[in-house]
Amino acid sequence: MSTEQSPFPPGFTISTTRLQITPFDPTSQIHCRFLVQLWNTDDFINSSGRTGIDTPEKASSFIQNRVIPSYARNRYGQFLVSLHDGRHIGMVSLMKGSPPDAHYTAPDVGYAILPEESGKGYATEVGKGVLEYAREDLGIEAAFGFCVAEDMRSRRVLEKIGLVFRGVGDLVVFGGKRSAVYALPSMGDLEAYNLTEKLEV
Ligand SMILES: CC(C)(COP(=O)(O)OP(=O)(O)OC[C@H]1O[C@@H](n2cnc3c(N)ncnc32)[C@H](O)[C@@H]1OP(=O)(O)O)[C@@H](O)C(=O)NCCC(=O)NCCS
Repeated sequence: MSTEQSPFPPGFTISTTRLQITPFDPTSQIHCRFLVQLWNTDDFINSSGRTGIDTPEKASSFIQNRVIPSYARNRYGQFLVSLHDGRHIGMVSLMKGSPPDAHYTAPDVGYAILPEESGKGYATEVGKGVLEYAREDLGIEAAFGFCVAEDMRSRRVLEKIGLVFRGVGDLVVFGGKRSAVYALPSMGDLEAYNLTEKLEV
């Protein structure tokens, strides 16, 4: 069990027009139950696969052992997404591998929204929000977006948050699975970020 602590002060929030982005708390039953709900919808499983997080206890361990260490290391990671009335509707992430699994040197942005709340532009809004936080508060100028090559809905969101399609390739980080690769417009040659897999446009 990791004993790392969240670096975020109580009440830390990244606000966007309709949404708030806040850190996950492993001691919150509400957060843990929500993560189980979100990651076990048919929509999520069909696009992203099964995480194995199917009880609040497993969600709590995951947040303590995986999410908090990412916050401590990078000041980013997986965040809870809520409406301004407090209702939880999804999550957004900025993630980078850590040794010994470190691979690409820029983080990638990801998102998941409850099926009943999708189609309202929320993934786009939080994706932009987390990239703005990364740039303005952390000085991060490089970020990837990855998704299954055939997932046109996720690809559309990556485009709408301002990433540029760079091609499709069999990515090592996803066990060689065929993935669409997007990157911020300023990134140039992706080998500079250790992405050396061949991409087909
Ligand atoms: C993918 C997901 C995050 C989208 O969330 P959302 O809040 O509905 O996204 P938005 O409303 O911001 O944008 C969706 C866009 O995709 C478009 N879209 C929807 N289905 C589409 C399809 N089959 N093909 C192409 N575009 C599609 C929508 O029209 C919209 O674009 P528009 O604004 O130009 O019309 C959400 O459905 C989800 O969580 N899915 C399960 C988990 C997942 O796939 N995560 C991403 C893994 S990389």
